[in-house]
Amino acid sequence: ADTINLAVIGGDGIGPEVVAEGLKVLDAVSDAKVERTEYDLGARRWHATGETLPDSVLEELRGHDAILLGAIGDPSVPSGVLERQLLLRIRFELDHHVNLRPAKLFPGVASPLDVARVAPDGIDLVVVREGTEGPYTGNGGALRVGTPNELATEVSVNTRFGAERVVRDAFARAQARERKKLTLLHKHNVLSYAGHLWRRTVEEVGAEFPDVSHDYAHIDAAMIYLATDPGRFDVIVTDNLFGDIVTDLAAAVTGGIGLAASGNINPDRSVPSMFEPVHGSAPDIAGQGKADPTATILSVAMLLQHLGRDEESARVEAAVAADLAERGSAVRSTTQIGDAIAARV
Ligand code: IPM
Ligand code: MN
Repeated sequence: ADTINLAVIGGDGIGPEVVAEGLKVLDAVSDAKVERTEYDLGARRWHATGETLPDSVLEELRGHDAILLGAIGDPSVPSGVLERQLLLRIRFELDHHVNLRPAKLFPGVASPLDVARVAPDGIDLVVVREGTEGPYTGNGGALRVGTPNELATEVSVNTRFGAERVVRDAFARAQARERKKLTLLHKHNVLSYAGHLWRRTVEEVGAEFPDVSHDYAHIDAAMIYLATDPGRFDVIVTDNLFGDIVTDLAAAVTGGIGLAASGNINPDRSVPSMFEPVHGSAPDIAGQGKADPTATILSVAMLLQHLGRDEESARVEAAVAADLAERGSAVRSTTQIGDAIAARV
């Protein structure tokens, strides 16, 4: 049988707990031999050594087929240190430009929306968030800090190259789906330069996909649509920061952050892509067996699909769907949920 060389970063808080369940399901479903290497990265290492992501570790990560990440972040570490030097550094260095975040309301899952009224045909959308540009590039600075004349900039970087590759990826994903619809979210009435670049890119790339329809919504109006008519969305493409925000709301309306999976994807399979739940490290419930591992397990399904193991991926998603359909209000522990889903694959 083939082998999946997997780098595992449990990370902080509930990260290691949910990752353990993801690995349990991966072992249960896959014919491949899963060779894993665990990397101790996150708050513990930073406190102990001052290191976030040593260059040697980054080089080792490159040698894997994929990376499974739990969560990064801890209140004991200054804000931004682990986020920028560890999580974003991996995304940037491995050129994870397609940040893929599906949001699907599974049968039996409660939504805060009155779904029967606002989404009678269900919610099944995927956000293709650009992952390497926008205001995330760290292109900014501050002057006269702490004075009444303080000034701060945080420049959003948008290249034609960066927009075009993610827009083309999003069109291809839309083409493979039933509704074949793509929506660009931006704010071109105010952010004219970047907005114009993105709109033109969608128009031009869209011509290569005549069977895919496309439209546009301002990001603020899109928040209203997500709450009042989420069924209108199929594939959403947007920049890094808008994508960060829209995916939290998309998760909220499809059962919450405990179910939201993501892939930080470099379509070049010779570079490892990284799969992680959208949620954070939740230090308040760490170590108590309360975390829902479902988002991590669905991230494992995305990992399998990315590696071309579509059948195994579909089995994981079906097992999650079956578990969610029967879940009801019974409180189960992290391992109980992982066991139940592993037993179904
Ligand atoms: C996410 C997170 C990260 C992001 C943070 C932790 C850097 O919010 O994965 O959505 O903004 O991308
Ligand atoms: Mn986020």
